[in-house]
Amino acid sequence: MRSRYKALVTDDDRFIRKLCQFVLEKQGLVVHLAETGQATFQALSDASFDLLLLDIDLPDIDGLTVLEKVTAQYPQISPIMVTGHASLEATIRAQELGAEGFILKPFDDTKLVQMVRRVLDRRQLREDYTQLQTSMQTEKLAALGRLTASLAHEINNPLQALRSGLRLLGRPQLDDAKRQHYVATLAQEVERLITITGQTLDFARPGQAGLESTDLNALLQSTLALVSKQLQQKHIDTDVTLAADLPAVKVVPDHIKQVVINLILNAIDAMSDSGLLTLTTTHLPHKRQVMITVQDTGSGMTPDVISKVFEPFFSTKDTGTGLGLSISYSIIETHGGYIEVESTPDTGTLFSIYLPDSSETEHDEPT
Ligand SMILES: Nc1ncnc2c1ncn2[C@@H]1O[C@H](COP(=O)(O)OP(=O)(O)OP(=O)(O)O)[C@@H](O)[C@H]1O
Ligand SMILES: [Mg+2]
Repeated sequence: MRSRYKALVTDDDRFIRKLCQFVLEKQGLVVHLAETGQATFQALSDASFDLLLLDIDLPDIDGLTVLEKVTAQYPQISPIMVTGHASLEATIRAQELGAEGFILKPFDDTKLVQMVRRVLDRRQLREDYTQLQTSMQTEKLAALGRLTASLAHEINNPLQALRSGLRLLGRPQLDDAKRQHYVATLAQEVERLITITGQTLDFARPGQAGLESTDLNALLQSTLALVSKQLQQKHIDTDVTLAADLPAVKVVPDHIKQVVINLILNAIDAMSDSGLLTLTTTHLPHKRQVMITVQDTGSGMTPDVISKVFEPFFSTKDTGTGLGLSISYSIIETHGGYIEVESTPDTGTLFSIYLPDSSETEHDEPT
C-alpha cells in the first residue's frame, strides 16, 4: 500500500474513529477524522483525500446523502461505506452512488485492512491504466510528428524535380530524344517517392533499450487487470490459458504490454455488448518461440480490412488513430518476432504474436 494515500474517516462513534485511525496509520495512510456529515464536507473542501470511510448512520445527515454529494463533487475519492445493519436496498443504493467497498460493524483490524487494501489496489490499477493510456497516446503523437516531419522533408526534393520536369515536358518544340530523357528522369523521381513513402511506413521502430528477462504470463495477467473495468462494463468474459512451461524471454516489458493492450482494446471495441476474450501463452520449443494469442468473438474483419490493419493510419473507427496495430507490428518486429491475424466477419478475430525464445538462445551460446 502506498504511503501517500490520504483517508478521511467519518463516524460518530469515537471508538470506531480511533480504531480506523490507528489501523490505517499503521498501514502508512495519512488519516483525518470527522464526526458528522457537515464536518465531512468541511474536511473535503479543506484538503484532498483519496479514501473516505463513511458511516451510513450519521447524527446530522444521512450517510447515503453524504455519499451522493461526495461522489458528485469529488469523483477522485474512493468511498467505503461502514454500516452496522446493511439493508440490501441501502447497499445497492450505495453501490449505485459510487461506493467501492463495504465494511460491516463490528469489524476487526484484518477486515478493515483487507477492504482498504482492495479498494486502494483497484485505485492503483486505474491510475496505472490511465498513465499507460497517456503514454501510449504520447507515443502515437510522437510517431505522428516524426512521420510528418520526415515525410515533408524527404518528398520535397523529388517533388521539385517533378515540377521542373513537367514544365520542360510542356515545351512545344521538344524533340523526341529529350522528351524520352525527361520522362525517364521523372519516372526515376516517382520511384524515389515510392521508396521514401515505403520507408516512412517503418516509422515506429522502438529501440531495444530496456530488454529484460520477462515472465510473459505475469505480464499478460497484469495487463488484463488494467482493462478489467472496460471488460466488466461491456459484459465480456475472459478465458486465460497460460503455459506452465513458458520460459522467461528477453523483451522490453512496457513495449510488449503496449502491444497486448492495443490488441485487447481492439478486441473490446470489436465486441458490442458481450463476448469472450481469450488470452493464451504457448511455448513452441521446436520453433524456439513463444506465442501469445488474443482472440475475440467480435465483429471480425473482411479480407480487405485484414490486408490493411497494420498500415499506419488505417482505422474504421470514428476516433481511432489507426496507429495501434502499426506500432504493435513494429514493436514485435523489433523484438525479432512477428504478428499474424486470422479473422472471420461476424465471428471474431485471432491475433497471434510470435517472439523468439531468447532463453534457449542463451543456453546455446557459450558464455
Ligand atoms: N480485434 C479486431 N476486430 C475487428 N477489427 C479490428 C480488430 N483489431 C483491429 N481491427 C481493425 O483494424 C483497424 C486498425 O486497428 P488499430 O489498432 O491500428 O487502430 P484503431 O483501433 O482504429 O485506432 P487506435 O488503436 O489508435 O485507437 C481498426 O480500426 C479495425 O477496423
Ligand atoms: Mg486500436
